[in-house]
Amino acid sequence: MIYYFSKLVICWQFGKYGDEAPNYKLGDDRDKAIYYLSTCCQIYAKGCEQMKPIGSTGRAWLKGFHIFFACTWIGTAISMQLLTFVRSHISTGDELWAVNAAIKLLDDYIIIPSAFGVLITGILFSWLTNWGFFKFNWIIVKYLINIEAILFGTFFLGPWVNGMEAISKVERLSALQNITYLHNAKMVVYFGPLQALILIAAVFITVLKPWGKRGKAEKKPHN
Ligand code: HEM
Repeated sequence: MIYYFSKLVICWQFGKYGDEAPNYKLGDDRDKAIYYLSTCCQIYAKGCEQMKPIGSTGRAWLKGFHIFFACTWIGTAISMQLLTFVRSHISTGDELWAVNAAIKLLDDYIIIPSAFGVLITGILFSWLTNWGFFKFNWIIVKYLINIEAILFGTFFLGPWVNGMEAISKVERLSALQNITYLHNAKMVVYFGPLQALILIAAVFITVLKPWGKRGKAEKKPHN
């Protein structure tokens, strides 16, 4: 962006001087300042472009970690859904609390670190490789999915799961008559699978890479 901005400034400056551009003479102090600033920006931006600080081995490691976190995130999300099915076949308060505690444990120690692991490795991908942040629509969609999943998990799914664990810990089987508990359980049953499906969609979006490059006809580079 800095590069294109500086190009724009230089074009504008040269435009002012027409065909004399190659023999461009620095005018007043303002002209000089703009000229030097934009030249420095160009050199800096070109330098950054040329020295992507990650080679093919580094990229492979990064991809490995990214896929690992994506697998643990989706795998755990699906496992949590299975546990919610188990919850409808229990007969004692201890069992009810144990299932809820297991779901909360998976949420706290696998889902949350994995979600941030995917986000951080995704950001590193954008920063250290030529995929970039906003060059491709599929990457923008993945950012939206990742951020949506983290926000929805933080403000809705997580509190629902924590609430169920806390209520069943105290009330045991009579939690099943608690309105808040029943509401949380219903929400988790509706929105848990939806969240998992959105994450699975992110995997297919990555593989299919639809919607092309931003502002251009579809083209899939081999980064
Ligand atoms: C923060 C947003 C994200 C960014 C910027 C991002 C970016 C990327 C990039 C650049 C690749 C390499 C693609 C290639 O080499 O062909 C990749 C691979 C992958 N991403 Fe993401 N990603 C993000 C979020 C996610 C999410 C939320 C998931 C699923 C939970 C996910 C799952 C995958 C998988 C499975 C691959 C490997 C696909 C393959 O090797 O074909 N990513 N990601």
